[in-house]
Amino acid sequence: MRLMLLLTAVGMGAAASYAIAAEELRQTAREHFQPIPAEPPQLPGNPITPDKVELGKMLFFEPRLSESWMLSCNACHNLATGGVDLQETSIGHGWHKGPRNAPTVLNAAFNVAQFWDGRAEDLEDQATGPMMNPGEMGSSAERVMGTLRSIPEYRERFKRAFPGEADPLKLGNVAKAIAAFETATLLTPNAPFDRYLAGDAGALSDRQKEGLQLFVEYGCVGCHYGTNVGGARYARFGEVQAPDGGLVPETDQGRFTVTGKPEDEYVFRVAPLRNVALTPPYFHSGQVWDLKDAVAIMGRAQLGLELTGEEAEAIADFLTSLTGAQPQIAYPILPVVTGDTPLPKPFDNP
Ligand code: HEC
Ligand code: HEC
Repeated sequence: MRLMLLLTAVGMGAAASYAIAAEELRQTAREHFQPIPAEPPQLPGNPITPDKVELGKMLFFEPRLSESWMLSCNACHNLATGGVDLQETSIGHGWHKGPRNAPTVLNAAFNVAQFWDGRAEDLEDQATGPMMNPGEMGSSAERVMGTLRSIPEYRERFKRAFPGEADPLKLGNVAKAIAAFETATLLTPNAPFDRYLAGDAGALSDRQKEGLQLFVEYGCVGCHYGTNVGGARYARFGEVQAPDGGLVPETDQGRFTVTGKPEDEYVFRVAPLRNVALTPPYFHSGQVWDLKDAVAIMGRAQLGLELTGEEAEAIADFLTSLTGAQPQIAYPILPVVTGDTPLPKPFDNP
């Protein structure tokens, strides 16, 4: 096929060789990136069923899993804004400003591990941590379980979501239901880039293709590859040159706190770039609001490259082609509490 194209090009001149170069770019892209699959992945030991997904959705939106009754998962992973809170770093219980920017929950199922430092193995492992985190939802396991047990509709729904289990209403199943909801529904397929990978050459503009070419040639792809164009490995932020001070606060040593290995100091999970145009500000410290600026910083810090303004713009333009079809989530109607439900403990002004 390639040979035939080549022969034709010799005969047909510039237009045809341009077509070959274009096809080569697409083939190269297909070697590095995979589309968001149309069907959600399977979860070992946690079969995805409609009852479980619906329960997981309710729990994701359930503010009464927080001590104040003000903070649900959706407070910081707002599904109306790309699964993030649009804050530098998240603000949680008691107006506590946390140390890190909230990554999106969209397509998180395809990351090698969860969090900026990869400390949770998967979504199930991640899901109940925020409820007990004093700076996030500020609750406790007893309070979370007491709240759910006090509401008859939840008792019923856990039975249906986990059929045949003697004690379906337990914390492990809260995590399983949320992970099933995230895996089954928080996916953004059919991005222009995915249509391009599948063969629709017109799905990307010329400038986006230029950006893709630079992304591959300059070596961004050495770290940002796979289904999520990132999220598959770890790297030091400042691999070649330390970025400006505020971007990598000294207090956050990244993956070092997970592994204890000196070579993991200031190492973070390579950020997944799906829907990145929707999720400013950028980097774990959330200091950069403009995608072009984030691209230029990456060029310098990770590759030792001074990108021109035009190059940074073309790459940023390419990155907007990673915005996929956002999940259409019907807002769940949550059951009312009963006299047995632990009351909220609101927090004061700072
Ligand atoms: C107060 C804000 C806040 C709340 C509430 C919150 N999160 Fe997060 N979430 C964050 C932040 C910040 C991080 C990154 C923390 C880190 O890397 O150390 C995060 C990380 C995650 C990740 C990892 C994504 C990735 O790509 O690594 C998932 C998944 C997630 N949260 C799901 C949830 C779920 C489910 C809930 C509800 C039970 C929840 N979050 C509640 C702020 C919040
Ligand atoms: C050596 C590995 C490596 C290379 C090469 C690399 N990156 Fe990154 N990238 C990372 C890591 C690690 C992060 C997360 C940094 C942090 O905040 O701790 C990141 C973050 C980003 C972000 C921010 C995303 C967000 O949601 O906060 C963008 C945008 C980005 N990279 C684009 C690029 C571009 C464009 C290139 C090429 C010019 C590139 N990267 C090259 C490792 C790399």
